[in-house]
Amino acid sequence: MSRKKIVAGNWKMNMTQDQSINLISELNQITSNDVEIKIAPSFTNLSKAILILENSEIEVIAQNVHFEERGAFTGEISVEMLKSIGVSNIIIGHSERRKYFNETDIILSKKVKVAIDNSMKIIFCVGEELSEREKGNHFDLIKSQIINGLFELSTDKIKSVIVAYEPVWAIGTGKTAENHQIQQMHEFIRKLFKDNYGNDISNKLRILYGGSVKPNNAKEIFSLADVDGGLIGGASLNFSDFKAIVQAAHG
Ligand code: 13P
Repeated sequence: MSRKKIVAGNWKMNMTQDQSINLISELNQITSNDVEIKIAPSFTNLSKAILILENSEIEVIAQNVHFEERGAFTGEISVEMLKSIGVSNIIIGHSERRKYFNETDIILSKKVKVAIDNSMKIIFCVGEELSEREKGNHFDLIKSQIINGLFELSTDKIKSVIVAYEPVWAIGTGKTAENHQIQQMHEFIRKLFKDNYGNDISNKLRILYGGSVKPNNAKEIFSLADVDGGLIGGASLNFSDFKAIVQAAHG
């Protein structure tokens, strides 16, 4: 089964407007061919990014969304607001949201629902802390994150989901997971989808790896059987690094 690779840059809380315009203008030169490229700037940089990349194949996506459609939720951003500026894909459940903003499985399943019910696509992140892996709990934990966050979706709606496996201990640490650990977890996730939704959905599901992906390890990681690309943090803030990672995904 050949699945189109995705390289998505999660800029997190980085880049002022000027810095963002500079980087996006450079990214605009990248031709994607057989790789889907996405970038997730901060909310304040989304509109500009969409304008600059209007004629490019790079998709501009959001890093987060609120779980209610509208109302008295000061400081929050709704699905409708994102849609109205041309965003149609949202990262949900990043470990930094889970950890620093107390986003539980229940909150995340509400975010998933509001996004998908409003015709959005999502990149749903899962990942274990090092302590969970050391206790041997990592498969159970990922399973519960996926079941609680996603498996209320119908077969039709689950098609709008991309999964990103990001072991927390590999994020921003320069410590990438071993290839066999990555492949094993991705295979496990695909099997969960197979058991719940069948062969067709699981074969088409794209599962990204995230956690210290750099130009020097991207090719190896992307060549693993169940890895369909990467969610890139630090290296997505640097044009030549991100470009090299996109190139590595071309295979
Ligand atoms: P790093 O690539 O900086 O480790 O971050 C990964 C990540 O969290 C992407 O969402």
